Amino acid sequence: MLKPLDQSGVWRFRELLPPLAEQRVITLREGNTPLYHLQRCASLTGIDSLYAKHQGMNPTGSFKDTGMTVAATAAHATGFHWVACASTGNTSASMAAYAARGNMRSLVLIPEGKISWGKLSQSLDYGALTCQLRTDFDGCVRILNDLVRQKPVYLLNSVNPYRIEGQKTAAVELLEQLEWQVPDHIIVPGGNLGNSSAIGKALLEVHQLKLISRLPKVSIVQAQGANPFYRSVHEFGGAKLEPMTADTMATAIRIGNPASWKKALRVLQSTGGEVEQVTELEIAEAKAEIGADGIGCEPASAVTLAGLKKLSQRGFVKPGETVILILTGHLLKDPDFTIKFHRGDLFEGTLQEREAVRTKQLQRAPVVLDATLAAVISALEAAEKIP
Ligand code: F0G
Repeated sequence: MLKPLDQSGVWRFRELLPPLAEQRVITLREGNTPLYHLQRCASLTGIDSLYAKHQGMNPTGSFKDTGMTVAATAAHATGFHWVACASTGNTSASMAAYAARGNMRSLVLIPEGKISWGKLSQSLDYGALTCQLRTDFDGCVRILNDLVRQKPVYLLNSVNPYRIEGQKTAAVELLEQLEWQVPDHIIVPGGNLGNSSAIGKALLEVHQLKLISRLPKVSIVQAQGANPFYRSVHEFGGAKLEPMTADTMATAIRIGNPASWKKALRVLQSTGGEVEQVTELEIAEAKAEIGADGIGCEPASAVTLAGLKKLSQRGFVKPGETVILILTGHLLKDPDFTIKFHRGDLFEGTLQEREAVRTKQLQRAPVVLDATLAAVISALEAAEKIP
């Protein structure tokens, strides 16, 4: 049974969903993502016990899938024919896939020209009605909120409570993988702030259930050009959040008016975490460093390592502590960024162009050679001189 739309625009159930038969659960076998030790990044940061929980290893390549299985199942069980989201690319990719699996139609609102090709191609392939709006993510959200008040369309943005419930599983899985030894820090990228809220909620609940005896500190990292939450905490003590026009090459977190900032604030306060911001250059470097560890991730995920470096410099994270980075998206989500970085083009024409010279030793540009053995041997010998 449904209540009329509430203020957030989400259809809510008057009663809990009845238990669903297994065959009615829309799933792509998400979850059970790997926990990796980041060897090189550990020696780079001086934090030996440094791990990545890679949510980009989910079926559509991002952390969104663990929430989408729950929320899409709820939409389907209630008889919705259409589901919709505003997105920076990953939610839309995930929603389109789960909608298709559940025989539902999906409507995607994305900011034109501001999402990566990999993500756009996914929503096309999964059959979504994909609308590229001439606005930013926040503009897409505004239109979607109005739309769901007029049309029987189920909203699948992260304000949907079922998404949050599903995304909690990452934290529980992580604790299970650590054999319930509580890490000291969990570091999460911050965009719309649904994921940090979900992870924090899971930890608080698990703590209340006495499955763990203390809480890890959950810290949130934003891109400097999309830092409304950082500013809220550091400039206004969390009393208010001033929306901003966001800009960052980490397009997944190009968000100026995060919906779940109050929930994220409560997570910081209850776990004793910090909020940090990082520059475009720091993001690009960190992404290459995670790549060089044989793991890889998309730019928005790399803010975690960049943020960790800052948190450790200011003594908030200590060398002997255990740190988990939540990597939210797969390396192949945004190959454009990676190729531009390695070719040395990423910062061309930007204010950071000169400073970007320092990333040179991380770059591995492809070399074009004549098709001869001699040419390949000389490339090999040249590469042997690089550590
Ligand atoms: N990392 C990636 C790869 C993302 O796609 C997002 C958000 C975040 C981090 C931030 O998570 O919003 O829960 O704080 N992507 C959304 C989308 C907004 O539409 O795909 P958050």
